[in-house]
Amino acid sequence: MNVNWEEINKKGFVDLEIDPEIDILSEINRLRKEKNAVILAHYYQEAEVQDIADFVGDSLALSQQAEKTDADIIIFAGVHFMAETAKILSPEKKVILPDLNAGCSLADSCPPKEFKKFIEKYPDHTVISYVNTSAEIKSMTDIVCTSSNAMQIVQSLPKDEKIIFAPDRNLGNYIKSITGKDMVIWQGACHVHEEFSLERILEIKKNEPEAKIIAHPECEKPILIVSEHIGSTQSLLNFTRTDNAEKYIVATESGIIHQMQKSSPSKTFIPAPPKDSTCACNDCNFMKLITIKKIYNCLKYELPEVNVDKGIREKAVHSIKRMLAISEELGI
Ligand code: 13P
Ligand code: SF4
Repeated sequence: MNVNWEEINKKGFVDLEIDPEIDILSEINRLRKEKNAVILAHYYQEAEVQDIADFVGDSLALSQQAEKTDADIIIFAGVHFMAETAKILSPEKKVILPDLNAGCSLADSCPPKEFKKFIEKYPDHTVISYVNTSAEIKSMTDIVCTSSNAMQIVQSLPKDEKIIFAPDRNLGNYIKSITGKDMVIWQGACHVHEEFSLERILEIKKNEPEAKIIAHPECEKPILIVSEHIGSTQSLLNFTRTDNAEKYIVATESGIIHQMQKSSPSKTFIPAPPKDSTCACNDCNFMKLITIKKIYNCLKYELPEVNVDKGIREKAVHSIKRMLAISEELGI
């Protein structure tokens, strides 16, 4: 076959024609066994991608998996910073992101040059950065966190410790309001979680008063104020598993509803609507770039690989390992 690798590199994914005779799912199974590959998928992936993964989870669980897996190849069905984190934790493994265009608006809202200047203004502060950042930002960070452990990590620091929190302003402000810690917050945001419409959510609530509003802390404050449960994607899922309500208005990326519905088939989950009324739910366009076909092709051709500059990796690994160690200590 005449393969133009340069073209593939430019596109960011392998889009070679797939033989229509083959059964893609069986081929994925055969290839992952043959190559000792593991497929890790974030909760925001398409349902069919979640269903073929070896492990589905939130950002924290996926980095824990990436650290401990004994696979030779990690196929990361998620976005770029997640694959980068996996590579930093397991540099000897081949880490493949099925589409390199799967970025993150939150990670992009924190450019390294500006962030370096920002942290230089606060030399006596501990830098806590959300995992949704580039490897370069992590190399300037003391402790990485995810939405599952951010609150506990901030709380684990001494009472008077001064903190820089980056990049999500909503999560940062939420933690600051609960912990009362001295925090300087970088003004970044996720385009999906900032898009929910309070007005439209309250309209649904008016018609379905028994439905509980649950929200991710990356949402804006007015949404959090009306929410009956605020938590990371994993925490929202756990809540719907144990809570006794029958209906929920879910203010986070709609991919998680697949797992909610699987765990609680009799319950109803309504995706919180965004401000732009032409769309019914909030999908992360980056997450949704990953498809079964791209997973098949990247397993077959072992491309495109995610690599991290050695110097950056050696610095960044400390802040990620610190997060994993604190989380283990806290049993998260
Ligand atoms: P969690 O996986 O920590 O819930 O983060 C949400 C998110 O926006 C991931 O991109
Ligand atoms: Fe980034 Fe937001 Fe998409 Fe998560 S949902 S990957 S934070 S853009």
